[in-house]
Formats: sequence, C-alpha cells, structure tokens
Amino acid sequence: MDAFRIQGGARLSGRIAVDGSKNASLPLMAAALLADDPVTLRRVPRLSDIANMAHLLAELGCATDSAPGIPGAPGAITLRNIDASLTQARYDIVRTMRASICVLGPLVARRGHARVSMPGGCAFGARPVDLHLKGLEALGAKIRLDGGDIVATADRLTGATVFLGGAFGSTVLGTANVMSAATLAEGTTIIESAACEPEIVDLADLLNAMGARISGAGSPRITIHGVERLGGADHAIIPDRIVAGTYAIAGAITNGDITFDDFPYDYLLAMVDCLRQVGVDVRRVDQREDPRCCRVQVTSSRRLRPVILTTQPYPGFPTDLQAQMLALLCMAEGNSIVTEKIYPERFMHVAELTRMGAQLFRQGPTVVVQGVNRLVGAPVMASDLRASASLVLAGLAAEGETIVTRVYHLDRGYERMEQTLAALGAEIERFNPDQDLAREIAGGAEPPVVTTVPAAVAPVP
Ligand code: EPU
Repeated sequence: MDAFRIQGGARLSGRIAVDGSKNASLPLMAAALLADDPVTLRRVPRLSDIANMAHLLAELGCATDSAPGIPGAPGAITLRNIDASLTQARYDIVRTMRASICVLGPLVARRGHARVSMPGGCAFGARPVDLHLKGLEALGAKIRLDGGDIVATADRLTGATVFLGGAFGSTVLGTANVMSAATLAEGTTIIESAACEPEIVDLADLLNAMGARISGAGSPRITIHGVERLGGADHAIIPDRIVAGTYAIAGAITNGDITFDDFPYDYLLAMVDCLRQVGVDVRRVDQREDPRCCRVQVTSSRRLRPVILTTQPYPGFPTDLQAQMLALLCMAEGNSIVTEKIYPERFMHVAELTRMGAQLFRQGPTVVVQGVNRLVGAPVMASDLRASASLVLAGLAAEGETIVTRVYHLDRGYERMEQTLAALGAEIERFNPDQDLAREIAGGAEPPVVTTVPAAVAPVP
C-alpha cells in the first residue's frame, strides 16, 4: 500500500485549479440510470471512488465512456443505459463505497426493482440509511431486507410529501435518492427538511436539464413534479468545495500564498469566515466565467488565533473540513473548541495528530485544541479520507519527516494530491513501504519507487 513521505517546513506558494466535486459526481452518475438517452458529465475528477461508481453502473447495465470529441473537456464521461434488466448492487462493491446507495432511488423509479446491499458503518461511526428508505416508502416503494440486501419494488412511484429531517439534521444522499426517484413519480413530491448542500443543487440542475421539473433545490423544501420520461443532458460538475477548502488550509498552515482558479467561494462562506477569524487572509481576486466560482488568493503569516467551531449541515461549517481545520488549529496561539454535530465519532485523526505533538483533549463530540508552537514529524496512519488529509497538512507544517501510510484513502477524494502539493513547493513523495522493505531485505539501496494513483477499486476496511 502506498504511503507519503513529507519533509515539513516548506512554504506553499503558487496557483492551482480546483477539480470537479467527487460528492456531486457520484449521485449525478447514478442519476444517469433514469435517462433514456446518453448523459455527458464534464469535469469529473479522476478518483478511485469515481472508478468504483463506474464499475457499479457497468454491473447495472449502464456503460461509462470517456466522451470523445469534446475538446478541452478533461474528465468528460458519457453514461449510456444498455441493459435495463440488471438491478443488483452487490455487497463487494457497496462495501468499498457507501455512496453506492445513490443507485437505489433511480433503479426503483426507472426499472421498478432494486436490490442494493445494505451499507455498513464506516471508520467514523454508524451511517444509517433509514431516511432514504422512509422517503422511498413514502413514494410507494415496497421495501424489505433480504440477506443483508435492501430490496425495493414499485410499479410506478406516486408523489407524496416527505419529511427527511433526522437526529443529525438533513441527509445529503437521502435527499439525492428521493429527489431523483420522484422525478419519474406520478404527481407532485415535496421534500421537507431537504439537504441544502450545493451538490443537491447540482443534481437538480442535471435532472432539470434531463427534463425533470424540480424547484427549490438549495432550500429545505424541494418540489418535484413527476414526468413520464427523462432524456439525456450535457452538464459540467461543480468544483469540489472540500478539495478547495483543504488546499486553502494547506496554504494557511504553511504560512503560504496560494491563488486558486475556480474557487467555489459562495459554497465555502462558513470556512472562509472561520479562516478569517483565525487570521488567514482570503481575498477574492476576480469572478470566473462560471458564476459559481471566482479566483481567490489565500495568504497567511501563521500568527493564528484560536476559534470556536461547530460542524453543521450546509451552509454551516462542513464536517468534511473539520479534520483539516483541526490540524490548523493545533498551531494557533491559544485554545480552540471544535464540536462535530454531523458525525459525533469523526475524530480518528485526533490520536494520530497527538503523536505529532498536538495537544488535543476530546470529550464526546467536542475536542479542545491547545495550540502548540510546533508539530514534530512522525509515522502516522490514515484512517479515512478527510482524517488522512488532516495528517498530510500537519506533516507539511511539522518539523522533520512525516510518513503517512494507507494513502489509498486520499486517492478516493483528492486527485494526485502529492503532485498538487509538490507543484506548490511541498517536499512530498509517494512511495511503497512494502517495496522499500523488500529491497532493504534484498540488500539494495535504490531510491523509493514513486507509484501512480490507483485507477480501480480501492479496499476500504
Ligand atoms: N443519517 C441518518 N439516517 C439516514 C442518513 C443519514 O440518521 O438515513 C445521519 C448520518 O448518520 C449523519 C447525518 O444524518 O449523522 C448526515 O448524513 P448524510 O446522509 O447527510 O451523509 P451522506 O449523504 O451519507 C454525504 C457525503 C459525506 C459528508 C456527508 C455530510 C457523499 C458521497 N458523501 O454523505 O462525505 O460527510 O454528506 O455532509 O456525498 C466525504 O466526502 O469525506 C464524506 C464522508
């Protein structure tokens, strides 16, 4: 398994472009199951989760091709349904990627049947799907559990009013599932307490381009008037707000100066506000062609102030940036308080950051961060996607060498992260510790082998 070797202390500077959003791409790819004609998606990031989704869709009779003849469109794919009789999402695939649950709504709405393996928990706790099932049942789907699989059937779904709020707020993929399914239902569906995340707006934009009649996406009430059929569309995915936020924090933690093309500023207001409270300068430089982004410059003198921060559903501070911000707050002058309201167990990075000299005290869903003058490089283990990102950021700021193992977690959500950081001046390389060890045992002393980002299914323990 690949690892990163980071020599901390380099100041990051330069200019980067933000990739398309993983968390938007996955439900949008699943929405292609609803279409009678090909759906082209542009700006799809090259990540192992995207490869996994393409693999799952192929098993469901929906082929993914890179779109030929679209000049200047990196990451453009076309999805085409070729066998509508296939309706099973197997455990082997679902367990590698929880977002596989996105196919449930489109399958039952368009093909009348779905068998989707029930996703289990993940590294940061239980992640139930009860709200997804409640929403689809409200639309008339018959749902049962069979041998660990969710089996859903329906002749034609019927519009209904559905309340999708849960104990931890709204559900993003639950909203995506119910909204997608309702596009082909008979009559009108109203989703109350819908997730307001930009990824839901992007999905609604695609579905409307395919012929759906959705209004209110981005607000807690979404109205969907069902239609008889959906056609194809050509759609560019929104930039990844979590990737942009992660690299902004990388700039801040290294005392850096980074300019971002396509920074999704309006989607990151909570994080921008937090960075400014900390003392990081985030400046809009100009508007981009795409109204959803602008050019932004992030600079930091690394005299960081502490903050009190709570993760919340959008537009609040995103849980997917909590681990990275926590790494930054380790270097602030004073005590910060970080509370996780979406996934109260999402603190796998805390013990690893402590190994690097961070002073962190956790009590339930809250961590008190006592700022320190310096972090010290250490071998640390990545446990999930965003926790891994936080360890890399800490390694960039730490004195000495940090080895982050199991970086396949990072490959799920960041396109060639080490190359992006190296281009900004970081001393970072990918290597395979197992190959190094084998070489050492064999008595050789060659330099480490730099390997490439895995293109196919990556295991998630
Ligand atoms: N929840 C329920 N019941 C449900 C569904 C969710 O109680 O049926 C709870 C969850 O346990 C959690 C809260 O509701 O406490 C919110 O979960 P949500 O359903 O919104 O999460 P998700 O849709 O499964 C997406 C992202 C996550 C991101 C969350 C929250 C994708 C593929 N995943 O997950 O992204 O953390 O929304 O914003 O879009 C990541 O990218 O690292 C990641 C984990």
